[in-house]
Formats: sequence, C-alpha cells, structure tokens
Amino acid sequence: MHLTILGSGLLALYIPAVTATGHRIDRRAVVRAFNPHRNVSSTKTPLQVGNGNFAFGVDVTGLQTFSPFATMSTWGWHSFSLPTTPGQTSVEDFTGLDWWTHDRLVNYNQPNPAQADISNWLIQNPQRLNLARIGFSFDGEETTEEDLQEKAQELDLWTGKISSSFKYKDVAVYVETWADASSDSIGISVGSELLTEGSLGIFFDFPLPTRNKFDAPFVGIFNATGNHSTTLRSQKQSAIIRHDLDETSYDVSFKWDSKAEISGPAKGTHRYLLKPSGGKKDIVLVVAFSPGGIKPRIPSLTQIKKASSKWWGSFWNSGAFVDLSATTSAEAKELQRRIILSQYLTAVNSASTLPPQGLVNNGWYGKFHLEMILWHLLHFARWDKYPLLWRSLPHMYNDYLSSSLDRARLQGYAGARWGKMTDPTGRSAPGEINSLLIWQQPHPMYFAETEYRSFPDAATLRKWDAILTPTADFMASYAFYNESTGVYDLGPPMYPASENTNPNATVNPAFELAYWRFGLDVAITWKQRQGLSVPAKWAEVHDKLALLPTAGDAFALYEGIPDMWAPNSTTVTDHPAMSGIFGLLPPPRSGPPLNMTIVRNTAKKIKELWAWGDCWGWDFPMLAMNVLRLGDVDQAVSYLLDPLFNFDDAGYPEGGARVPTPYFPGSSSFLLAIAMMAGGWDGEPGPHFPEEWKVVVEGFIPGL
Ligand SMILES: *[C@@H]1O[C@H](CO)[C@@H](O)[C@H](O)[C@H]1NC(C)=O
Ligand SMILES: *[C@@H]1O[C@H](CO)[C@@H](O)[C@H](O)[C@H]1NC(C)=O
Ligand SMILES: *[C@@H]1O[C@H](CO)[C@@H](O)[C@H](O)[C@H]1NC(C)=O
Ligand SMILES: *[C@@H]1O[C@H](CO)[C@@H](O)[C@H](O)[C@H]1NC(C)=O
Ligand SMILES: *[C@@H]1O[C@H](CO)[C@@H](O)[C@H](O)[C@H]1NC(C)=O
Ligand SMILES: *[C@@H]1O[C@H](CO)[C@@H](O)[C@H](O)[C@H]1NC(C)=O
Ligand SMILES: *[C@@H]1O[C@H](CO)[C@@H](O)[C@H](O)[C@H]1NC(C)=O
Repeated sequence: MHLTILGSGLLALYIPAVTATGHRIDRRAVVRAFNPHRNVSSTKTPLQVGNGNFAFGVDVTGLQTFSPFATMSTWGWHSFSLPTTPGQTSVEDFTGLDWWTHDRLVNYNQPNPAQADISNWLIQNPQRLNLARIGFSFDGEETTEEDLQEKAQELDLWTGKISSSFKYKDVAVYVETWADASSDSIGISVGSELLTEGSLGIFFDFPLPTRNKFDAPFVGIFNATGNHSTTLRSQKQSAIIRHDLDETSYDVSFKWDSKAEISGPAKGTHRYLLKPSGGKKDIVLVVAFSPGGIKPRIPSLTQIKKASSKWWGSFWNSGAFVDLSATTSAEAKELQRRIILSQYLTAVNSASTLPPQGLVNNGWYGKFHLEMILWHLLHFARWDKYPLLWRSLPHMYNDYLSSSLDRARLQGYAGARWGKMTDPTGRSAPGEINSLLIWQQPHPMYFAETEYRSFPDAATLRKWDAILTPTADFMASYAFYNESTGVYDLGPPMYPASENTNPNATVNPAFELAYWRFGLDVAITWKQRQGLSVPAKWAEVHDKLALLPTAGDAFALYEGIPDMWAPNSTTVTDHPAMSGIFGLLPPPRSGPPLNMTIVRNTAKKIKELWAWGDCWGWDFPMLAMNVLRLGDVDQAVSYLLDPLFNFDDAGYPEGGARVPTPYFPGSSSFLLAIAMMAGGWDGEPGPHFPEEWKVVVEGFIPGL
C-alpha cells in the first residue's frame, strides 16, 4: 500500500502517496483483495465473465458443466409464434382497456380479459435468450460435481479472468475462462492429462426458452428438443452451430487449436461434443456468438486475454474510488467488499447498449423497466464512468421517443410518455401497474442535470434538450388542474412507486409530486441555460403543483390515504418512496421549501413502523441517502448493511422473497449511496463516513 497514515480519525491527517497511475490509492491491491473464491458451485449465482453487453456465467468448473448458468447478450431475443385465436392473431388486434381519467375515457395498455391470448403473448414476448450451454464431458460418463475433488476457483477482478481447477479420478484439470471486452466471445484454455488420454471433452447444448416471468437460476429448458433446431457445419479445427427457434436464428462459432472432432447432436438432444483426439495436454477454444447472417469476428485467446486485461485495468483505474482498507471494523470491510464486487457486477451486467436488466437470468422475461434505469445507471455518472453510461443514454430515450410520443398522444396528452416494462423495440408490456406508473417520467431530468455537473457545456445542453422538452411537455400536460382547489394534481388513476395502492384512489403521491417539481425545475433551468424561452405551461404547473401531502406530522403516501402510519397497514409496506424526497432527490430549488420537521418525522416513522419484511433491493440505499442528508451517517451504514439487504460471496445482491437473486438494482443503488457518502452533495462535500473510520476517496464530484 502506498498509504502513509500519520494518525487516526480525520482525513486531514493523511498524506497518501501517489501511485504510478496518478492515484492516491493503490487500486489494484484494494480490488484484488476481494477476488471471489469458490470451491463449490453456488445454487443461485454463477461467477461471470462479460462486458456489459454479453456475459457468460460459470459453475465451479469454469464452464457450465453441472449448473447450466446462462450465456446472454443484448441482441439475443426470441418470440414464440403469435396466438391463432380468432381476432387475436396480431399485435394490432390488442385493444387494451379504457379507464375513467378525470371524466374522460383514456386507453391504457392493460391486459384485456376478453383478449387473454394476445395480452399474454405481449407480456411474455420477446424473452431474452440463453444462447448456449458449454460444459465438460468426462469420457461420456454420468458425472456430478461431487465426483470432482480439490475444486478451487478464483475470479480475478483486475483482469476479468476466472481460474478453476479440480481433479477427476485423481487427474488435475486447469481451466481459464475469459470474455472479450468488445465482442460476444469467450476464450477458454484447458490443461489436463485427461486431454492427453482423450477422455475429457467439451459439450455444447441449446435450450428452448420458456414463458416463465422469472427464469432463474437457469434460463430455458434443455429437454424440449422438438420445437427448435440446430445444425452443425464443421471444418478443420472450427465449427459453426446454427440455432433456429421460430423467427430467431443465431450462430455459435467455435475455433480450437488442437486435434479434436466435433459431433452431434446426440439422438433426441441438441447436445454436441468436441472430443480431443488425445496426445496433447491442453486445448484452447474460442466461442463467438452472433445473430444469424452476421459473420462474427473470432478473436484469438491471446487477443481476448489482452483485451479483457486492458479493459478491466482501465475500468478500475478510471473514475472514482473508495478505499476503506485502513479501517479495521467488520462493517467497513463488508462495505468495501460490496463496493468492489458491485462495481465488477454492474460493469458485466448493466453497462449495456440497452437499458439494463442483468445477464445472469431472466427476470420479467429479460425485459427492462424504465422506472428502474435511474437505479441501474445513475451510479455510473456519480462514479465518473460516463463511457459506460453513454452506451445506453441518452440514445435509449431517442430510440423510444416516437413510441412514447404516440403513447401520450393516444391518451390525449402532450409530449412523450415513457413506457415501463420494455423490450428492445421500445414496446411496453401490457399491465395495470405498467400502464399507470409515473415515476419513470422525470428520470431524464435527473440524468441530464447530473451529466451537466461533469460536462457543463453546450453539447450536453443540446444532447438532452430534445429529450427533456417532450418529457416536460408530458409532465405538464399530465398534471390535472383542479378547479376547486386551484392546484395541479397527479392522478388518479395512477400507481405510486410502491405499486400497492388502489389506482383509482391514488392522487398526489408525495414522492411523485416532489419528483415532478424537480423534473420541471430542471427542464425550466435547461431552457434558461440555453437562452431559450420556457414554455408557459411548465412554469404554471411547477408553480401550482399540489403541496406534498401529510398525515399528522409526517408525509402521507398520497393525499387522503386512510390509516397512514397505522402499524401493519398497507401504508407502511413496500418501497418507502417518501424517503426519496430528501435523499435521492435534492431539496427543491424553487417553490415551497420542504418542511424539515416533516422530513425528519417521516424518516423516524419509517424506521420505527415500516414492515421491513416487504423491503428489498434499492429500498435500503434510498433510506441510507435519506438519513445521510439528515446527517445520520451511522444509520446510513446500518441501512446499507441491513440483514435484509444481502450480497452473496461473489457480491450478487439477493432478491429476497419477491424477486429472484441477483436483483441488480441492489448493487447499483448501493453504489449510488456510496457515491453520496464519498462524494457528498451540494453544500455538503464528502466524504461522510463514520467519524472513526480511516477513509481515502478520490475522483467524485458532489451530487445534486
Ligand atoms: C471451501 O471454501 C469455504 C469458504 O471459503 C471454506 O470454509 C472451506 O474450508 C473450503 N473447503 C475446502 C474443502 O477447501
Ligand atoms: C378503476 O376504475 C376502472 C374504470 O375506470 C375499473 O375498470 C377498475 O376496475 C378500477 N380499479 C380498481 C382497483 O378499483
Ligand atoms: C423437462 O424436465 C422438466 C424437469 O426438469 C420436466 O418438468 C418436464 O416435464 C420435462 N419436459 C419434457 C418435454 O421432457
Ligand atoms: C412446442 O410447440 C407446440 C406447438 O406449437 C406446443 O403445443 C408445445 O407447447 C411446445 N412445447 C414447448 C415445450 O414449448
Ligand atoms: C379537486 O381536489 C379535491 C380535494 O383534493 C378533490 O376532492 C376533488 O375530487 C378534486 N377534483 C377533481 C375534479 O379531481
Ligand atoms: C412544519 O411541520 C410541523 C409539523 O407538522 C408544523 O408544526 C410546522 O408549523 C411546519 N412548519 C412550517 C414552516 O410550515
Ligand atoms: C404487526 O405485525 C407483527 C408481525 O406480524 C406483530 O408482531 C404485531 O403484533 C402487529 N402489530 C399490530 C399493531 O397489529
């Protein structure tokens, strides 16, 4: 370590040296201290190599030998054929439902009971594909993980390499698994006398997707072989297997470096076997995945290793960093572990050209949720990893703009109404909640304003203006002017972030109101910064938006909600979004200030009364950010280490009772809260860690 510690306690007492990369922190040492080690496969999570757009999950053998963890990409999707039910055979046949909305009927993208087949089809399709399973074959014998001895595995976070070793019948096998940094390819090297004997092979298998909302821990089924087909074309030391499923087809291209024969499929399966002919004790295999018709570039293993090492090195050396290693407490050690592993896992699973959903398994068919992208992506900005953020933003909003303009127009609103559970084309899946949720709407403002902090220039203003304008147009148009009260209301019908209220009774939810005000504020400032005129409607709605509702001396979930804060009532369960009002969101820059007594009381009541069993994932970082702004650093640490907010041995955030593991918004929101602790916010520059901790941070810009 290049740290010189002169005393304990205050940061001012440190005089850290500067490393070769110009950092005060020896980042490599901090990172590598948390390399995951396994000697048995996890039943829930793989170890992964990947690059944000492609990931390969492995069991303890370094391949998918015993546990068929997934191989997933941003481009690999599949749809089952459309229903044949008369009147429900095309997407255009789907009508949704009309609901009363302020004395007019508005059409919502909701499952129509009279059209169950097409409604379900739209929900279940497309699904993200598990492209293939690749594993070891031990001389064709039935083998289980227990038949292997001396299993050991390490993921080197600094280079993106998984090293695995084990013995089979007392013969050692060494495996290295790598993913390319910029293509959908993996490189594998295997060394073993079993190869010399010709008794170790590598199999490939191809699953059929399912219609399961959650396909976890494994994706697809391998025993339904009838409804899809595979075709092998082999050449000397290379082969291509084409996989056809309904309208989808893609290629898996293999190249290897020694004498080996590929054969298959075995009868009644889609299983192929690459069998070394023997005589050589190692083999290198490169596998590239590509959409049908696109000829992949197949890199060599050397190229893959070099690209992976370089990419991960620059990932760790760029942007911000937190070093808690001089603090001996178990809490600091666990926070540091989560910080490092969450960074690795969000880079592998969320730094995508599409909005993230993770590449471990299929939650929600692998579709992504536009209300969740703030949690998934904002930390990349706060940790100054903009190139990863820019893979999806803001182009994703441009890509989905026209369908969002249509969505708003068909409902009689101005501007663009962003969708919810979305597929790569921007189609939002039918759903009562999906169609009535609104807190995804101001997200572009948060992204834009954060980016402006780092890049306060005309290019940033121009880039986001085309998105903020239709977004604010919708937000202003959606707010309903209530003649009798003289204020603009949000809803009904609508669902708040907690999704647990009667949508027809939900009006003026506290968090959404605060977020609407924030969003319009940013949109107005954005125009002013460019010297452009501010649409009068935006200012009118911003100035006359309903006040945040209260119940007693704390916030209410929404205006007029019965039994607010009654113990065990549905008013104190699910996402405690009221904590986002002062935490995730900064205090309002204009308009009525927050009543800080109410903000404090709300935080206190949540802590005392909330039904924690129904909380998961981003709830805890959101609560941590709330108490951080309120000055309670110790409570923030407690929230981040809450027993209900668990990260497994390899850093995957556990889903809990309601969503599968991993639930990546847990990782990304955690990093967002850490950015707030380390980098601080307007008027309160960081770091904000417990007084007695020894902390070095670098590279953060204070948040909003
Ligand atoms: C496997 O790893 C666990 C956790 O690191 C350790 O406690 C255990 O002793 C290891 N088992 C073997 C057989 O190495
Ligand atoms: C809300 O109102 C619509 C009609 O506008 C109705 O179809 C729906 O069932 C109502 N939902 C609830 C939960 O009351
Ligand atoms: C495939 O296996 C699963 C259990 O793993 C079983 O439930 C299912 O019936 C099998 N399907 C076929 C087509 O054999
Ligand atoms: C295979 O296709 C047939 C006909 O479309 C369908 O009935 C069956 O459910 C499919 N099998 C699976 C496992 O999806
Ligand atoms: C206007 O606000 C009042 C008080 O919140 C409410 O009772 C009334 O229903 C609202 N009017 C309309 C037309 O929504
Ligand atoms: C803030 O809320 C408290 C508790 O409801 C109330 O007593 C106080 O008057 C409020 N302050 C302002 C400035 O409105
Ligand atoms: C609330 O629920 C908890 C756990 O189910 C129970 O122990 C407690 O008595 C309940 N409190 C009230 C006021 O019903």
